Amino acid sequence: MANDALLRLEGVSKIFDTGTIGLDNVTLDIANGEFVSLLGPSGCGKTTSLRVMAGFEAPTSGRVLLDGNDITALRPYDRPLNTVFQDYALFPHMNVAENVGFGLSLRKLSSAETEKKVKEALELVGLSDKIRARVSMLSGGQRQRVALARALVCSPRVLLLDEPLSALDANLREQMQIELKRLQSRLGTTFVMVTHDQGEALSISDRIVVLNRGKIEQIASPATLYDAPETSFVADFIGSMNLLEAEVLETTPSAVRVSVGPMAIDIPRDCAATVPAPRASVLVCIRPEELAVQLFPTNETVAAQITSTVFYGPMQRLFVEIAGGRKLMIDMGRRRSSETFEAGTTVHIKPIRGAGRILSRA
Ligand SMILES: Nc1ncnc2c1ncn2[C@@H]1O[C@H](COP(=O)(O)OP(=O)(O)OP(=O)(O)O)[C@@H](O)[C@H]1O
Ligand SMILES: [Mg+2]
Repeated sequence: MANDALLRLEGVSKIFDTGTIGLDNVTLDIANGEFVSLLGPSGCGKTTSLRVMAGFEAPTSGRVLLDGNDITALRPYDRPLNTVFQDYALFPHMNVAENVGFGLSLRKLSSAETEKKVKEALELVGLSDKIRARVSMLSGGQRQRVALARALVCSPRVLLLDEPLSALDANLREQMQIELKRLQSRLGTTFVMVTHDQGEALSISDRIVVLNRGKIEQIASPATLYDAPETSFVADFIGSMNLLEAEVLETTPSAVRVSVGPMAIDIPRDCAATVPAPRASVLVCIRPEELAVQLFPTNETVAAQITSTVFYGPMQRLFVEIAGGRKLMIDMGRRRSSETFEAGTTVHIKPIRGAGRILSRA
């Protein structure tokens, strides 16, 4: 995508004066119209990436390109990008229209033009009826919309959002996620959003960039990240995962058969990062929902002792132990009529067909 990327970070490193490495040789292409999320644990470099894109932080090395042009030296206000900050940074003494119009004040527009653009931006975020309201009188969700309108009023090429929804409570947050995605598709504007909430990243992004210690672990669509994590970090970070040491039993043209203690798993060849030799020890991951539970044994199942359970409404999570002391997590979808399992019970488990991946150890 290097040539037709709208925004590109090219070999960007950021070493702070303190010696802390914020970003370590990050190369990232973002296409026009994409919704990209930067996801990772605290301190992994998400905000630093966004600040380098916006121009608030100069990279120690590497370049920032927009439409193929080097913008590394451009000041923030000379870049056709806009940022929505985590705390919204609204002016409490101004009303909604003044806050939104502030984004336009650096441009020399007539007051009629300003008024028109402010109205359009507020309409976009569904706040037309609050145009004269004081910001201090608004709810969290409404303030968030004002901040969005203020950032969108200049029609930026790219909108950068740093944890834009983190101040909202869970229900409102979910509703705003849907609205944000809808707004983005309607406008066709490129959005780059920082979040440490994987559910949020998975539900609204076209692609997710997983960062860890200043480096990119994987860039992929939500489904690919979930189904085909490339590293143990991603496997462990996205969703719940059983990460298991396994031994290779045999390799056939279609599968690599491994054993996790007494349990055999046939891992499809295209789910193996490497094709290891028999008896090699490999790192295998299998999702909790990819293990099936039954009450009676067959020749495909292994016995498992339930050590504890957690009730999640639509599913029940079982923590089980199989022979050799291996511990596994199993998620069972449930309906009101389905059985619930209790700690202390012995059940019989097997991996569902096609489950599991062999990760590279790198
Ligand atoms: N101005 C600074 N001076 C020194 N170190 C900094 C500075 N800003 C960030 N860092 C360090 O750089 C690393 C990356 O920070 P960054 O703010 O990008 O993390 P983040 O992924 O946004 O984390 P969070 O989820 O906590 O917001 C951290 O180790 C942080 O302590
Ligand atoms: Mg941050």
